[in-house]
Amino acid sequence: MKVTKLLSALFLCALVAGYSSLREPLAQTGQTSAPSSAALIERGKYLVERVAMCIDCHSPRTPTGEFDQKRWLQGSVLDFAPRHPIPNWTDIAPAIAGLPGYTEEEAVRLLETGLGPNGKPLRPPMPPYRLNHEDALAVVAYLKSLGGKK
Ligand code: HEC
Repeated sequence: MKVTKLLSALFLCALVAGYSSLREPLAQTGQTSAPSSAALIERGKYLVERVAMCIDCHSPRTPTGEFDQKRWLQGSVLDFAPRHPIPNWTDIAPAIAGLPGYTEEEAVRLLETGLGPNGKPLRPPMPPYRLNHEDALAVVAYLKSLGGKK
């Protein structure tokens, strides 16, 4: 009996300690549950570079086939084509660093619905993404942070 009590007391202590160490950094920065913009941008970078692979189409490569780090996400002519004709196919993936020509709202909507600013889907092979709102915000925060060519 005693041991069980001791154990549950210890468990409670650990729980409280864990909780307050979680709360502390938030209290210090005065943040609520919303992620900081740095965390949002970091998640967006992960989604763009590791998950949705936007870089595959939108980042130009050097003649030897590696990504051109100096022109990261600054638009590319696609190196591949469909085996059969696909209506509206375009082989130009425009620059998306800084999201030129797109407001944040338009870009979020594109990533959530697949629809461009004119309410129509973009041309293939741009995939009609259906990201959730948080992921769309993160991708847009990252792309906007890149500034892009002015
Ligand atoms: C398979 C290739 C491919 C991938 C992967 C891809 N795109 Fe695209 N993207 C395109 C093409 C091609 C266009 C041009 C479509 C058009 O002109 O209608 C485009 C257009 C866009 C545009 C509109 C740009 C403009 O100025 O009109 C945005 C924004 C965009 N893509 C964002 C993204 C993001 C963000 C990702 C990753 C989440 C992504 N794309 C992944 C091929 C791709």
